[in-house]
Amino acid sequence: MIDDLWYKNGIFYCLAVGTYMDANGDGIGDFVGLTRRLDYLHGLGVTAIWLMPFQPSPQRDGGYDIADYYGVDPRYGTLGDFVEFAHGCKQRGIRIIIDLVVNHTSDQHPWFLEARRSKDSPYRDWYVWSDKKPANANTGMVFPGVQKSTWTRDKEAGAWYFHRFYDFQPDLNTSNPHVQTEILKIMGFWIQLGVSGFRMDAVPFVIATKGASVKKSVEQYDMLRAFREFLQWREGDAIILAEANVLPQTDLEYFGDDGDRMHMMFNFQVNQHLFYALAASDTRPLAKALVATKPRPASAQWGLFLRNHDELDLGRLTEAQRDVVFKAFGPDKDMQLYNRGIRRRLAPMLGGDRRRLELAYSLMFTLPGTPVIRYGDELGMGDNLALPERECARTPMQWSAEPHGGFTKSDKAASPVLDQGPYGYEHVNAAKQRRDPNSMLNWTERIIRMRKEVPEVGWGDFEVIETRDPAVLIIRYDWRNNSVLFVHNLDEKPREIAFATGLADDSGRLLINLLAEDHSRADKRGRHTLVREPYGYRWYRVGGLDYLLRRSDVDTERSAKRTRKAAHPG
Ligand code: GLC
Ligand code: CA
Repeated sequence: MIDDLWYKNGIFYCLAVGTYMDANGDGIGDFVGLTRRLDYLHGLGVTAIWLMPFQPSPQRDGGYDIADYYGVDPRYGTLGDFVEFAHGCKQRGIRIIIDLVVNHTSDQHPWFLEARRSKDSPYRDWYVWSDKKPANANTGMVFPGVQKSTWTRDKEAGAWYFHRFYDFQPDLNTSNPHVQTEILKIMGFWIQLGVSGFRMDAVPFVIATKGASVKKSVEQYDMLRAFREFLQWREGDAIILAEANVLPQTDLEYFGDDGDRMHMMFNFQVNQHLFYALAASDTRPLAKALVATKPRPASAQWGLFLRNHDELDLGRLTEAQRDVVFKAFGPDKDMQLYNRGIRRRLAPMLGGDRRRLELAYSLMFTLPGTPVIRYGDELGMGDNLALPERECARTPMQWSAEPHGGFTKSDKAASPVLDQGPYGYEHVNAAKQRRDPNSMLNWTERIIRMRKEVPEVGWGDFEVIETRDPAVLIIRYDWRNNSVLFVHNLDEKPREIAFATGLADDSGRLLINLLAEDHSRADKRGRHTLVREPYGYRWYRVGGLDYLLRRSDVDTERSAKRTRKAAHPG
């Protein structure tokens, strides 16, 4: 049944518990607060919440440095609070995805504390050691400019340990069968508590061979199948959404040819080219990225996103393309990060221009895959560049014009709420936008509602329709004898666009606008001619005279036909 693959037509929403809603007034968001906001999320229409790591952690990398996989950080509440939250989600039909961060642990994890203590510790081999400094210790850093090396000497251990990320995140030796068993156990634990799957962190690194003697690491894809198999036995409809910023020719290794590995992957290729398209008003490289990432097994799905909690990584663009995006969206050095990306939030990048925000969102909702919204983007929240690295785009949710944006009753929020400039909470907040029918929030709610009614996007085959105009992207989806078609003008100037749907027998075909009244009728040669306003977008259902069409249109059409027939009998 089609509903069984629930992630194919889902709306994902990612948030960090600590910056969402503080219920007990200690300045830190918690599960009780988040649970109280479930009706907000339900109203918005999200079908799955992706929780960033919330387990006990020294919090030196936004919780991606876990010190205990089987608990809730006391700052956020108790395991009991988590279960209440999970129940609240279930009542509303919202699914939960949680981060699975198993490439590394915190250096404060008891496993690492044990491992460093002695060579004979049973946990020693859970990490990756070297007696001498490996020759490649200064290569392969994920955070260049901040992270100095990938091997650090541990005094207590008297040896060097490997860390793909920061030095306080020692890599787990994922080739060790004991570690592999433990990873399954972690999945089993949270599945039992009601989550529907995992956003698996740093997957290419999890499955890579690691060690001082490894010159060029190799991905062990079989591990992905093992994760998947276990998950499916425990919970048939649970999924894994992989964070894997890889080249299109490797996608199928991750999905598995038969769809027996990862259910979902984030589409980084499309993400980067989408931002290039927005910056350059040139959709051609985006169209190429869409075609390049097209092949995937029927049950697999892309996760489509604009911004996430990390920097906007532009590493897959050419240098010239990257420069164009930097210039348009992050011209100051301070806005850039790790020599490859932009650390800002979406709204300030697009100059707070509502037309461009809608355009960007409309693209995210209509490109092939399942949209993943970043909390606060539904309000057009801004960033705080005074905060270091990626923190700038992780400020607390802005609920109202009350102090600290209604996020906390404490006089000090653990992470400062944005309180200055045009994106400060007094201007940008959920309470205000809820009252305004034309707000970004209410627009997002409407577009989500419509997106859910167009399952063709998540399920169908797509075709990028040729236009002569690089600023315009037209995509058609076909699924079960239905077709939908989306037109986007990425330019600041209005465009006249002529195109055919590409379907056979197009003459006189009607495109029914799903968001407004101006439908389009093809001419005798099957061509539609439209004028798209600057940054304009249109969502059409391909008619079918009998479908959704206003009665009056049908009547006009029929009587026109009759008149034509009468005038030219035979
Ligand atoms: C992923 C996360 C990022 C984190 C890193 C290390 O890339 O998205 O936030 O810092 O993994 O776990
Ligand atoms: Ca709290």
